[in-house]
Amino acid sequence: MKINVVLSPSNVDELHFSGKTTVVIDVLRASTTIVTALMNGAKEIVPVGSVEFAMKASSNMFGGQTLICGERNAKKIDGFNLGNSPLEYTNDAIGGKSIVFFTTNGTKAIVKAKYSNEVLLASFLNLSAVVKYLLELKKPFEILCAGNNNNFCLEDTVCAGKLISETASLSQNVELSDSGLAAVSIAKTFGKNLKKMFSESEHGNFLIGNGFEEDLKYCAKLNITELIPVFASSVIKTLSRQSQEQQVSGLSTIS
Ligand code: MLT
Repeated sequence: MKINVVLSPSNVDELHFSGKTTVVIDVLRASTTIVTALMNGAKEIVPVGSVEFAMKASSNMFGGQTLICGERNAKKIDGFNLGNSPLEYTNDAIGGKSIVFFTTNGTKAIVKAKYSNEVLLASFLNLSAVVKYLLELKKPFEILCAGNNNNFCLEDTVCAGKLISETASLSQNVELSDSGLAAVSIAKTFGKNLKKMFSESEHGNFLIGNGFEEDLKYCAKLNITELIPVFASSVIKTLSRQSQEQQVSGLSTIS
């Protein structure tokens, strides 16, 4: 099973992902927030690549059942219902709702992976569940780190490295690209204490400076859910057990 890590979305174009299985990671905070929103009962999330498109998409969808959420410079955008703090995404706030979601790096990375055969979202919250599913799929996969403004970022790479190490510990059959090897090594150096790693990272520091220290504590929680978000037909939903079995046996794609 060949595993490659794309360390920043700027390293490749959309066609790089064509026909592949891709795992998108934006630990601080988009992929953590999406996992949390689905855990807490959101119906679906529509990731978009611009604020303008978020406005347009939300005005055309499902009347009062649609929220428009996300951030610019880590803060809630004027006129949006919620920002990008996972702690805002309680069942009271988002239960049963469709969420049109824009974030600076995370949603753009998800949209960039759209030509993949299958797009999964990982964070520390659901890391082992994603590993388990990838092992069942037995296919080569790409990990796309959302990064920070088209640059490398530490926290997504540590999450990618941990995902690879756990996969390799459970399968004899793992082959790594150079970026995969580098991610594993970086995770060994920085991944022992996730809160500390966040507070040393550029974006972690930026979030602390903007009053989001509690978010870092939450984003560092490891394996609190089995939920796997999957992006297909423009929306992110929870991968159902039935869909997992169909994908594993190659019977159909997620609908
Ligand atoms: C992003 O997509 O850039 C982030 O999730 C930023 C943030 O921390 O809100």
